[in-house]
Amino acid sequence: MKQMVLGIESSCDETSAAIIEDNVVLSNIVSSQEIHAKFGGVVPELASRAHIRLITMIIDQALKKAGVDKSDLTGIAVTHGPGLVGALLVGLSFGKGLSTALKIPFIGINHIEGHIYGNFLTNPQINFPHLCLIVSGGHTQIVLMERHLDYQIIGKTRDDAVGEAFDKGSKLLGLGYPGGPLIDNLSKKGNDSFHTFPRAVLKNGPFDFSYSGLKTSLLVYIESRGKTFVQKHLSDICASYQKAAIEVLVKKTIRAAMEYNVKSVGIAGGVAANSLLRSWMAEEIKNLNKNFYVPGMSYCTDNAAMIARAGVERFKHGMTSPLDLNAFPSLPLESIENLNV
Ligand code: KG4
Ligand code: ZN
Repeated sequence: MKQMVLGIESSCDETSAAIIEDNVVLSNIVSSQEIHAKFGGVVPELASRAHIRLITMIIDQALKKAGVDKSDLTGIAVTHGPGLVGALLVGLSFGKGLSTALKIPFIGINHIEGHIYGNFLTNPQINFPHLCLIVSGGHTQIVLMERHLDYQIIGKTRDDAVGEAFDKGSKLLGLGYPGGPLIDNLSKKGNDSFHTFPRAVLKNGPFDFSYSGLKTSLLVYIESRGKTFVQKHLSDICASYQKAAIEVLVKKTIRAAMEYNVKSVGIAGGVAANSLLRSWMAEEIKNLNKNFYVPGMSYCTDNAAMIARAGVERFKHGMTSPLDLNAFPSLPLESIENLNV
């Protein structure tokens, strides 16, 4: 049976709704809350209130653009963690209410699982075992998948996420928020060997990451050189900082791909939009003779199509969630045992 799933995403500062029919995206509406830019980061209460204001309109737009009536929906998939609890509750409560009214199944989706499945929207042919590097504002993880809905976390950050390193670095450099796209763009005109920022070497946990030292080294560098110097060499500093952040991701992912002998490698999450990460990883994986899959740009940063796609996968395996499902700010990514296939 074909599935027509409404996805809802409200875990942070994007209010998003999407309709997908199996693997085909019929609409994917994303509203990025601009209110946070002037604070240099997301303000949780403002995010929840903005979700409340936007969600009905965004869902209506998603249905209209898809040319789908509510009565055509076969299920609803909603992010229920990890994320900001007040923000998550908006989408979650709306999704539960709608599923009750329409008498259709509802499923809670882990946001990270959503990011992984965003890549399957662009690349349905992804083959297993698959290694996925998840890089976002809140997460930096390497996940091994032997099959659908099966996750083994083989490495993760011990402190900041790489997206945070971009956002905080951008703030220190006097640029805006979110910092990733701004640093990425400025780096294109810069010399990435201008300064050598540190790459964290961890004694144990060969696939773990650490980004707090990188951010501190930028702060020390800016303070030692002064504002005028930093302004004059902004692109060079961005390029050097970006190279340090990305090099560790590429090296560790490549090493993990060899050690676990996977067939394919993917990247997911907001930082997967980074141009250096995409090109550098593509180059290295070509040498390994494995497949490399990247999500389309619109499926990198937060969006509801990826949540709907993960929902399709779970519905396909006979899964649904109870209506008392809660929102969890630190929801872990868990494998599904004994899949009903
Ligand atoms: O996945 P996402 O939209 O939200 C979270 O789940 O966190 O990721 C947002 C993160 C931000 O830290 C943003 O700066 C980063 O993704 N980002 C980038 C780029 N585009 C977005 N980082 C580096 N280069 C980019 N082009
Ligand atoms: Zn995300």
